[in-house]
Formats: sequence, C-alpha cells, structure tokens
Amino acid sequence: MCGIVGYVGSKEIGTRLIEGLKRLEYRGYDSSGLSIIENKQIQHTKRVGRVKALDAALPKNYLKARTGICHTRWATHGDVTEKNAHPHISSDQRFALVHNGVIENYLQIKQFLESKNYTFASDTDSEAIVNLIAYHFEKELEAPDSNRFLESVRKALLHLEGTFGIAVISKDYPDEMICARRGSPLIIGVGKNEHLIASDVNALTHCTQNVVYLNDNEIVHLTAEDFSISTISKVSVNAVIQTVDWDTSDAELGDFQHFMEKEIFEQPAALKNGMRGRFSDDGSTAFFGGLNIQPQELSQIDRIIFIACGTAWHACLIAEYLIERFARIPVEVEYASEFRYRNAPLDKNSLVIAISQSGETIDSLSALKEAKRKGYKTLSINNSVGSSIARECDGGIYQHAGPEIGVASTKAFTSQVMLCAMLALYLGRLRNLSYTDGCNIVKALKGLPKLVEKTLESKDIIQKVAKKYAHYEDCLFLGRQLMFPIALEGALKLKEISYIHAEGYPAAEMKHGPIALISEKCPSVFLTTNGEMFQKSMANIKEIKARKGKVICIASQDCELPEDAIDDLIQVPEAHEIIQPILMSIPVQLLSYYIALERGCDVDKPRNLAKSVTVE
Ligand code: M6R
Repeated sequence: MCGIVGYVGSKEIGTRLIEGLKRLEYRGYDSSGLSIIENKQIQHTKRVGRVKALDAALPKNYLKARTGICHTRWATHGDVTEKNAHPHISSDQRFALVHNGVIENYLQIKQFLESKNYTFASDTDSEAIVNLIAYHFEKELEAPDSNRFLESVRKALLHLEGTFGIAVISKDYPDEMICARRGSPLIIGVGKNEHLIASDVNALTHCTQNVVYLNDNEIVHLTAEDFSISTISKVSVNAVIQTVDWDTSDAELGDFQHFMEKEIFEQPAALKNGMRGRFSDDGSTAFFGGLNIQPQELSQIDRIIFIACGTAWHACLIAEYLIERFARIPVEVEYASEFRYRNAPLDKNSLVIAISQSGETIDSLSALKEAKRKGYKTLSINNSVGSSIARECDGGIYQHAGPEIGVASTKAFTSQVMLCAMLALYLGRLRNLSYTDGCNIVKALKGLPKLVEKTLESKDIIQKVAKKYAHYEDCLFLGRQLMFPIALEGALKLKEISYIHAEGYPAAEMKHGPIALISEKCPSVFLTTNGEMFQKSMANIKEIKARKGKVICIASQDCELPEDAIDDLIQVPEAHEIIQPILMSIPVQLLSYYIALERGCDVDKPRNLAKSVTVE
C-alpha cells in the first residue's frame, strides 16, 4: 500500500516523478505529495485525492528540479488530510521523507523527540522517522561531512520497530538521496547519470529497465552517477543489476477504458505466457524450472499447505480440489493472516506454498517466513519477479502474466489457477496419474487460451445481464465443488468494485442459513457445469426459484437447463474439468466489471482498497 518514487540525476524530474507516481496510484490513492530541493530549501506540495490533483497544483519550478521524492498514500495512521500526506518534513526543515510501512514504536520515539523540542505537524508514524533522522544528524557532528547524512539515517533506522521502505532527501545534500527497506519493497532504477527509487518496478520502467531489488535491512546512498548499498549494520553489499522484461506499454491502458477491462481481455495471452515451455516432450505432464526441489523429494511430500490472501486464497482452494483429485496428496488451505499466528503443527514431509500476485502481501510473506523458520520447504506462485515472496521461498513458479494494475485481480487469478492445475498434473504424474490422463490434461491446458477467447466473446450478453441487475444491493454466488471457489471469487469481485453486498457459498450450504436471504430483492449467480453435481445443482436452483429469487446461471454449454429454472443464462464452452474453473471465472469478472461500470464506480481504484496490502 502506498507508493514511493524518488529521483536524483542530471535530468529534470519533470514527468519522471509524476509519471512514476501515476503508475503507482493503484497502490494507494487517498492523497499524494512531492518534495524537491531548491536554493538549499526543501519545498513540498501535497494534495488530498488523486495524483492528478497534485500534478495540477505543482508549481512549474518543481518539475525542473533534479532531486525529488514523492508518494501516494493509503492511510494507516491519521486521517486523509494534507498534513498527513507524505512527504513529511523534519521540524528543523532539513529533511523530507516518504515512507511505506508501519512504525510500531512511533509513539515512544515521538515522546522522546518532543522532549528534545522537535515538533510534529501530522498524526502519522512516518513523521517520527524524519525527526529522528534530524535528531541523529545533530548528534553526528564528528562524522565526516560526506557521511553525516547517511550515518544519521542509519542511526535512526536502528531504533525503529516495524516495517519501512523510505526515501529521504536533505537540503544540505541537494544531489543525494538515501533509501532503506525492512519489510516494504524498494527497487533502485539504474539509469545513465540518473538513479531512481520506487516501491514498485512499474514506476521505473518508463525511465529504465535496469533495476536492483533491495533486501530487508539494506540502506542505499544514491547520487546521479553512483549508488552504494550496505546493511543497516554497515556491511557493504554487492548490487546485482537485473533487467526487467516488462514493456512500458504493459502498464498503459491502450484502447481500454480501465485496467481491469484490459486485464480481463489479456487473459488468453497471460495464460499462454504462463504455460510456455512448461510441458514435457512426451505431452503427458508439466514441469517447472524454478522449483529447486527434486522429483524424488516431491514424491515424498505427504501434505501441502497453501497460504494466501484474498483472490489468491481462492486460487488455493481450487488447487486443493485439483491436487487432491489428480495427485492424491492431502491439501490444506490457510488464510496467511491466520496461519502466521496459529502455530499450526506441521508434519516432517509438509510442503508450504504461498500464492501471491504481488509477492509483497505482508501476511503471506510473514506466513511464509514462519513456515521457513520452522524448517519446512517453501514454494511460491507469484507474478512479480524479484518480489519479497519470490526471494524468501526455496523455489517457485513465476506466473509471467504481466503487470496487473487494476485493484481487482483478474488475469493474475486465472493464471494462478492454471499453474495450480499444472502443478496438480506434475505432482499427479510423479504418483499415480496415468500417461493417458496426463496427455488429456495437457491437451486441455494447451487449448485453454482459445477457449478463454471464445468465452470473452460473450461480453455483450454479460453486459446486458449486468444492466438488468446493477440496481440490486445484495447478491449470492453459489456453486458446488470446483465452482465453489469461483462463487467466492465472484462475490469478492462484485463487492470490491461495485460495493454490492455479495456472498459466495457452496450451493448445498444454502439450506443451512443463507436461504433466508433469498427474495425478489436478492438475486443469485449460480455456477454449474455438466459434471456429477449437475442434478444436485438443479435442485438447489429450484429451491431458489421457489422463493422468488432471480437466478443468473453461468453454465457450460453442455448443460440442459429447464427453461423455467433460470432468469438469465451466460454460457461458457464445455471443457475438461481441470480448466472449467478458469472459463467460469471470465463471466464473473465481466459481470462485476459491467455492473460496477453501470453504477458509476471507479473500477480500477475502488474505495478503501489498494492493490498490494503491505501492512497488517
Ligand atoms: O498480491 P496478492 O495476490 O498477495 O494479493 C492478495 C489480495 O490482497 C488480493 O487478491 C485482493 O483480494 C484483490 N483485491 C482481489 O481482487
């Protein structure tokens, strides 16, 4: 949550910072601000609301500066006001700081600093950091002038409890920037006579493809020409420069109205990219280059625990069905936020797999660390090369779905589900799944992108249905077996972007309570395929109709639905059961998207949300 961009270089910050900030807006968007140094003074502008409000308010001279930091905020401490927006300035006006993360002991630090006559203008925890830096700067009198800035930041960081990604500039060091991280991502953008810092690689690719991912407890000193990394405890670190393979246009809207829409329609390509080069020559299984666990070891695994949050957690539920069915390995799915504190007993041969689009979700990262600390093998499925989760686990599978900007996860979800299906296939083939069954699954997976394209062709039908139902304030999503996680995902999609109250249930659970909600005012979206659960699903649909509930049925084409059973029908192509959840996801995404559009909601930036949840 929140986004940081900083620049020090020989060029004017001009659009470099603002463009970077706009690309980060999906990380948090309640207020923003920018600081520069001019005539040995720190100047700053902040605005409540979107980055465009800040952009419009910036004095022209700002954009000509050559050192600057900026921030887009998702509030944790204090209201959404200009005074709480970043950058924060030390009370001696010497330093400006932007911060992502949460400082847990900020009240103690604040009290201490107030006793030393430092003053505070905001309600944030971040302001404690910048004043603590100012305090240590005063104390660092003996340090050589060239080191004093760096050393005072370093000293301040030693006192912080909690998480931080920070960028600091100082009026006394107008050509320098100091940045550091612990538990909150920061990436250096390496350019020619310029260096950038950002909390997300997206904010750098318009300037450079060369990046360095900082590790926890590292601090970096940057100038236009150079940068040096050390640990907060002063051990120097060799920088590894990596090349980002994203295209700048990947993070641009193109002809689409919203990123969510763009990303829904990018799914055929995202799925193709995720499976490329990952099928065996004999056409019967999948394989993954980065697992770092030998097949012999994997075949000893007798339990898999998936950890994730939100949409990624729904992908885990599908993994549970598929791995248990095709590989016969017991699977448990845990909310990362619960798992990390639950002290769950694990067996010797347990494997822990985290799924995360961003690779930065703090609960998933912390749960993964907890599993590692206990000595378990850990893997991840994630979409962000070099992210904290990718670096923390023993091995993993990159999604290669391209950047996902819309807050509502769409292409990342279907790509996670596909990779879970491929993992189920791989693990199944290491055990008892037959060659023929393996070949059938590979064939189905290879045909998936085309079937997704076909499903997307229903967009006009779905838009019509959306228009009809956009005024309802409640909605149930129901499905059985593999359709149950899609029901959960459909409900999450709808509520997060259209603010309609929506719940997902396994359809048979309806009778145990939710059926009380069914009325003319509460429609149900019912997901069904023509599998073994079809007749039972029909019985559930009839129960809804008997209570005057409207039914939107999302069904595979081979389902024969009694005419009076449903109000609206959205069909998806029939397919192998392993890919059916992916095909079923497309209509639920489009339905939510068009309903939100109909209700005039800000689809890409729904209220109170941010793309990546990096605070607890
Ligand atoms: O980056 P992650 O996959 O770890 O994010 C997990 C959730 O925060 C995320 O899926 C969230 O639920 C989305 N807003 C859902 O659309």
